[in-house]
Amino acid sequence: MKDLVRLKTSLTEEVEKILNEQIRMEANSSSKYLAMASWCEEKGYKHSAEFFYLQAEEERQHMLKIFKYVAEMGGKAISPEVSHVQHDYATLREIFETALEQEISVTHAIYRIVDVARKVRDYGTDKFMDWFVAEQREEETVARRVLELFDIIGEEGQGLYFIDQAIGKVRGEA
Ligand code: FEO
Repeated sequence: MKDLVRLKTSLTEEVEKILNEQIRMEANSSSKYLAMASWCEEKGYKHSAEFFYLQAEEERQHMLKIFKYVAEMGGKAISPEVSHVQHDYATLREIFETALEQEISVTHAIYRIVDVARKVRDYGTDKFMDWFVAEQREEETVARRVLELFDIIGEEGQGLYFIDQAIGKVRGEA
């Protein structure tokens, strides 16, 4: 009933809340990727570091996209607090496995938003999320492609050097 009298916004409380949760998730992703870039810099994996700098920037753009949508729709966009950010990793492969897991959880979160939007017949938000659905498909493809490189090239000897070089080219291919 409360949602019916929200005259300043066409977003229901439920949709506004889940979009703000997504804003926080994108901000968290951005910070995680920045920490991964830092780890790669420290270890000398320059191309992987660049990969994560770009990824961190993209996640910030995702956050802003949703933030501005909530604001434009008359809702209250919440500037997110970023929770604990992991800085330590054992290997380069572990970093990219963690990145893929992160993308898979983001995809699930995006699908949840679509589910909620459809449930309350908010077709505007449903349409708005189309871009994110496509983006997640691409991001998961890139993350999986990178992980394949570890098996194709192999990590022995100079393998990690060549894997890092190859990672520098993956984004352009996806
Ligand atoms: Fe914005 Fe990579 O999810």
